[in-house]
Amino acid sequence: MGVASGPEVLFSRERIRERVAQMGRQIDLDYAGESIVLVGVLKGAAIFLADLARSISVDNTFDFVAVSSYGKGQRTSGAVKLIKDLDQPIEGKHVILVEDILDTGLTLGFLRSLFEQHQPKSLRIAALLDKPSRRVEKIEADYVGFTIPNQFVIGYGMDFAERYRNLPDICLMPSCRPQAPAE
Ligand code: IMP
Repeated sequence: MGVASGPEVLFSRERIRERVAQMGRQIDLDYAGESIVLVGVLKGAAIFLADLARSISVDNTFDFVAVSSYGKGQRTSGAVKLIKDLDQPIEGKHVILVEDILDTGLTLGFLRSLFEQHQPKSLRIAALLDKPSRRVEKIEADYVGFTIPNQFVIGYGMDFAERYRNLPDICLMPSCRPQAPAE
């Protein structure tokens, strides 16, 4: 089955909406009376950040970083490089790194170390999806939308070769599962 004939839905837009709203409520409780900086990892987290931010009532600002990641395929090279840095200093601020998927953990491991050097007041991670079975780097998210097995997904910001980010649901990438083992 090709994507054109309709990919298999793993999480519907309604389920995503419900879960992201819950995550926002939890963040509101945890940061009541504080200000936070939401740092999205481009491009995959853009849609998640947009929805998560609108589920949050505490004072917040956005920033974005970009790193080299999977490129046009499904495999990571293991090397992570910063392509776009923060626009604003995060020193002394409460920061939540917002990511679409925590997979091998190489990306968030890299960003966490980098951000810690800037001495934020606190640093947490919100990941919409978590694939713990693929983990290489020892890292956990503080807020997780859904935990999934070793499957390649597309939609709601997540791509395959830069396509399908606009699908409103999170879908399984046809003929691409399970993924190759993490290196
Ligand atoms: P990590 O560095 O291996 O944790 O990979 C994180 C990044 O890999 C995510 O932010 C995604 O951009 C990408 N990625 C991992 N799994 C998938 C997937 O199933 N679909 C689309 N992108 C993925």
